[in-house]
Amino acid sequence: MHRIVATVIAGLLAAPVLAAEHETGDAAAGEKDFRKCKACHEIVADNGDVIVKGGKTGPNLYGVIGRPVAGTDFNYGDSIVAVGETGAVWDFDNFTAYVEDPSAWLEEQLDDSSARSKMAFKLRSGGDDIYAYLVSVSGE
Ligand code: HEC
Repeated sequence: MHRIVATVIAGLLAAPVLAAEHETGDAAAGEKDFRKCKACHEIVADNGDVIVKGGKTGPNLYGVIGRPVAGTDFNYGDSIVAVGETGAVWDFDNFTAYVEDPSAWLEEQLDDSSARSKMAFKLRSGGDDIYAYLVSVSGE
């Protein structure tokens, strides 16, 4: 009897623990990997502090984690605006899937094979590290 209870409790505990581990990227590695992004993205705090001097081809990524998709005044493409209108937010799963293949992610979200991204870049791996880095530089 005790064993069964223990097994059930272990099962209940395992799910959130796994989710948390899943979201633990390496922020230091992500800082290095961000060099792949900065040609197009800057990280500039709301108070004007420049955390990473970068390009303006894409939106400012300060505070992007937890922010609504297409949530700045950047001139986004129609597809990502449509996803933003669904109420989607940049959480771990959305962020890591998006940076691996932006157009594929938009197609999937919109269930529309003609969806396109203005972001002409695919990250092969390390999205979890960049996620951790962006969280770490964006305050709360
Ligand atoms: C060649 C330029 C380019 C590179 C390199 C690039 N991006 Fe982008 N990114 C864009 C553009 C342009 C958009 C706007 C997409 C749209 O409007 O469809 C964008 C959008 C985004 C968004 C959505 C932001 C929002 O406000 O909703 C995220 C997140 C993002 N990029 C992350 C990254 C990360 C992380 C990297 C590096 C691994 C990266 N990008 C590399 C050009 C780029």
